[in-house]
Amino acid sequence: MQFKPVFSSLLAFCVLATLAGSTALPDLEVLSTDTSGDRVPLPASAGWKPSRVCRLKPLGAGKDDTNQFEPKVEWWLEPENTYRVVFIQSQASWFVVTGSDFVIDAHKTGGVHGNGQPWTGDGRPIAFTVHKARDAVIKDFSILFPPFWASTVAESERVVFDGMVVNATNTDPRWAGQTVVWNTDGIDTYRSDRITLRNWDVTCGDDCIAVKGNSTNIVARDFVCRGGTGVAFGSLGQYNGIHDIVKNVLIENVKILRLDPKVQPNMNHGIYFKAWDGVATGTPPTGGGGGSGLVENAIFRNFVFDRVQTGFQIVQNFGAPVDEVEVSSKVKFSKMLFGNIRGTTNESTIVRFDCSSVEHCSDIRFKNVNVKGAGIQGAKDEYICKNAEGITGLPVPCGN
Ligand SMILES: *[C@@H]1O[C@H](CO)[C@@H](O)[C@H](O)[C@H]1NC(C)=O
Ligand SMILES: *[C@@H]1O[C@H](CO)[C@@H](O)[C@H](O)[C@H]1NC(C)=O
Ligand SMILES: *[C@@H]1O[C@H](CO)[C@@H](O)[C@H](O)[C@H]1NC(C)=O
Repeated sequence: MQFKPVFSSLLAFCVLATLAGSTALPDLEVLSTDTSGDRVPLPASAGWKPSRVCRLKPLGAGKDDTNQFEPKVEWWLEPENTYRVVFIQSQASWFVVTGSDFVIDAHKTGGVHGNGQPWTGDGRPIAFTVHKARDAVIKDFSILFPPFWASTVAESERVVFDGMVVNATNTDPRWAGQTVVWNTDGIDTYRSDRITLRNWDVTCGDDCIAVKGNSTNIVARDFVCRGGTGVAFGSLGQYNGIHDIVKNVLIENVKILRLDPKVQPNMNHGIYFKAWDGVATGTPPTGGGGGSGLVENAIFRNFVFDRVQTGFQIVQNFGAPVDEVEVSSKVKFSKMLFGNIRGTTNESTIVRFDCSSVEHCSDIRFKNVNVKGAGIQGAKDEYICKNAEGITGLPVPCGN
């Protein structure tokens, strides 16, 4: 299989070298097919040796291997100046890496520097995209000040991302205390199978991880998420006529930490799920809805929440007409387990499952979950469940 790196027209930073000696083998994993909490490691790594390594090269006067992208906002917003390989929401990409059987190791000294401070508005590029890749490892790579999603893996299989650092923090005193770094997701997975994400430290203004349509057999572990909106599934069902499948996902050992509000105030959820309504309003990339989907077999365990606004949330009304009485999303959420999760919310909503009247949420188990609200002015912890059946293990019944 030919390794075909595709790089930004401004930069070429990847030098392929023949690999001498041994490299850490990717620890690829699959899950068992139920939510009992067990998973079965896949012995796929046996004998695997990458045939190519990509060593990041210093550019210009850079002291390290970090590749600087100038914030020439208008220029990057022109479609022909970026790659358009990620189908969902017609995203633009800066770096695109594709191919099979390779390692990209930035040795904790390299990555992409997006100089993201001046960025606002639509059309901002994804900083680092892995597209149509197979049997690959991305290691110890940092993505600083991305203008948009820090990274994405799309249409790929058997890829390990290990030891990633993402930091999207506003440093302009004029915006201190506000959330201005929206859409700076840590990673979005899309149309990909057997992806392992581990040892991540993400500071961002949006989803720490977003598991999107047709992500299957995903393992994400040992994560710190600082600020933003939390660990997300979705959004799903945005494309009318397209079915979004999310199946067999294990996310474990995660800390969701609120930043100092003087830096950035948002820490919206611990774990949340978002889907579009059954009625389409407008068309993607900005509008949408009407798509179907199934989320099944997801395990979340060993989480700590630090003052998140809502602990666990399912909302399925993206793009819903304002006068719609019942949410009609065609995305079904079922067979999920939340185990060994503790911490706090800064308000009173611990659980908000606002599910579709067409596809009820079902079979969601909580086990050893101890998340407490802030109890502001004596407010009681709230557990809200609508169109949801088989919700077990909460300290009080979950009602409307
Ligand atoms: C992220 O960047 C900000 C601004 O440079 C810095 O203050 C903060 O310590 C960084 N966070 C981490 C976890 O390194
Ligand atoms: C997901 O996979 C199903 C089954 O192969 C396919 O019908 C559907 O279009 C895929 N959805 C996406 C978002 O690619
Ligand atoms: C809780 O955090 C949210 C931001 O995530 C903020 O808007 C809200 O004011 C906070 N609530 C309290 C009571 O501090």
